[in-house]
Amino acid sequence: MTETIIRLNHVSFAYEGAEEKAVKGVSCEVRKGEFLSIIGHNGSGKSTLAKLLNGLLLPTEGSVEVAGVVTSDEEQIWQVRQTVGMVFQNPDNQFVAPTVEDDIAFGMENIGIPPSEMEARIIDALQKVNMSEFRTAEPNRLSGGQKQRVAIAGALAVRPAVLVLDEATAMLDPRGRKEVLEVVRRMNLEQGMTVIQITHYLEETLESDRILVMDGGALVGEGTPETIYQKVDWLRKLGLDVPFACDLQYRLRKKGFRFPVLNITGEGVLDSLWISD
Ligand SMILES: Nc1ncnc2c1ncn2[C@@H]1O[C@H](COP(=O)(O)OP(=O)(O)O)[C@@H](O)[C@H]1O
Ligand SMILES: [Mg+2]
Repeated sequence: MTETIIRLNHVSFAYEGAEEKAVKGVSCEVRKGEFLSIIGHNGSGKSTLAKLLNGLLLPTEGSVEVAGVVTSDEEQIWQVRQTVGMVFQNPDNQFVAPTVEDDIAFGMENIGIPPSEMEARIIDALQKVNMSEFRTAEPNRLSGGQKQRVAIAGALAVRPAVLVLDEATAMLDPRGRKEVLEVVRRMNLEQGMTVIQITHYLEETLESDRILVMDGGALVGEGTPETIYQKVDWLRKLGLDVPFACDLQYRLRKKGFRFPVLNITGEGVLDSLWISD
């Protein structure tokens, strides 16, 4: 039995003055240690959902529970924030301190990490994102990609049980994206850190344990990459594409090729073609 770390019970959220709810009646569970991806076209409510996960926003209806604590419980909100770390798309408004190391320290101070532990954690987190040499740099002088690595280091230094990445690698070049994803993946596998990533790079979702699909504020689909990416027509109706290998296979299927299972990598498709020959 896998433990549930986050539970959403019929969660809705409306921004003040907005006619439509940004999140509508979402119920789901996040399991401890899983690698979860959330996809959906622009405006489908992904970022709003992310902010509901650590109490940055509170549901207007329903409730969010993080490790047994309801996010609307003001007295325990620090515990929620400690459990769920978050990195957003735009790194510019994520810095508060004059240097990279102060910034990372600030995030740790906020949740009561003892000062004696901070230095080791800063060194470790910067090393993970390949930014050790920028420890005393001014965040504002860094490139977009470097800022984003620092933001990720700041989240990692807190050692959250759950890390939410909301389009957090969007500013990086493909190589940088791959590196950061590998770090996160390793922390997921080796340390059991739960990862929730929101991304429009669908290729990056292929190794997820599960994918959630959002549309118009609602959760409209849930499943493994293999099951979600079978539904090519449905995804396209939702304004989403499918990863390359899935599309290739979809088109080959239409031409009469048979694949017993959906292969989510190009190599998998090739292997199946060999076997079916
Ligand atoms: N701060 C805000 N104030 C009012 N409406 C917002 C705000 N942020 C987002 N919205 C609206 O909420 C809906 C969901 O947005 P968002 O959660 O950002 O979606 P996504 O991350 O999937 O692009 C959209 O209709 C968007 O315009
Ligand atoms: Mg968003």
